[in-house]
Amino acid sequence: MVQFEHQSVMPKEVLDLLVTDATGVYVDATLGAGGHALKLLQTYPDLRLIGVDQDAYALSYATDRLAAYTDRCNVLKGNFRYLTALLASIGVRQVSGILFDLGVSSPQLDQRERGFSYQQEDAPLDMRMDLDNPLTAFRLINQRPEQEIRHALQTFGEERWAARIAQFIVQARQVEPIRTSGQLVDIIRAAVPAAARRSGGHPARRTFQALRIWVNDELGALNEGLEEGWHVLVPSGRLVVIAFHSLEDRIVKNRFRDWSTQSEGRLVTRHPLMANAQELADNPRSRSAKLRAVEKLTH
Ligand SMILES: C[S@@+](CC[C@H](N)C(=O)[O-])C[C@H]1O[C@@H](n2cnc3c(N)ncnc32)[C@H](O)[C@@H]1O
Repeated sequence: MVQFEHQSVMPKEVLDLLVTDATGVYVDATLGAGGHALKLLQTYPDLRLIGVDQDAYALSYATDRLAAYTDRCNVLKGNFRYLTALLASIGVRQVSGILFDLGVSSPQLDQRERGFSYQQEDAPLDMRMDLDNPLTAFRLINQRPEQEIRHALQTFGEERWAARIAQFIVQARQVEPIRTSGQLVDIIRAAVPAAARRSGGHPARRTFQALRIWVNDELGALNEGLEEGWHVLVPSGRLVVIAFHSLEDRIVKNRFRDWSTQSEGRLVTRHPLMANAQELADNPRSRSAKLRAVEKLTH
């Protein structure tokens, strides 16, 4: 039995900023373990919730957790980049608010066989959030040209040693396929000069981040998901987004700013909210979280 524990980030802030109509229809576009969704359903007895996730494990867990609310809660498997179609599949065209709590959940990181964590020895190089996606980290690492790998590590990992790591990966895979997280971590350690390895955290952190973003096309999905979300949002409804690294947060910040300068939206948070000291102490995952909210204007 998989342990499926995930501490929701900034739950109070999410509720305060997201809900403008206590009887409205809300979407949790990243249902995960269902923590935010459960809070919304418990706090607002007349609110309807639609939970979306592309990870079948998360959906199954969240479905059990939300079982007491089936009369006003739907759970849908899919990628939020297709939000309009997902909602249309259950006859919903407009919603009062949408939450995006991005990235991976703690259970995804902890399940060894998912291959998300550089701390797991000898996990398969998978990293798919959606197990129906045919593209795995194994395929990218073993089949893509060196310059594509370098570019991905630079763009999605902001990895300073991208060129050397890509070169070492290609050399290693000529001997035998790179199958496990442990093999990849060893290759990265060999590629990063010793002096650089002594600072800046785990040497594989940025490469693993880059691969995860690449496998799941996280930035593409975020760009499209925000557009889709904006499209189905009612006037005076809100999008709330929690981002966990600067690449995601930049996309959110720029999109929200554009809507605001085009007078389509109003920034509810001028600057991103961060977790308070208590939450930082209780939940290390909240350390890098940045929450932004925007409201759609009525024309
Ligand atoms: C940080 S967790 C959400 C945790 C949740 N808010 C809670 O309180 O339990 C992020 C979830 O979003 C899902 N996810 C990430 N990108 C997605 C996408 N493009 N479409 C659908 N689900 C996505 C992941 O599979 C993961 O389960």
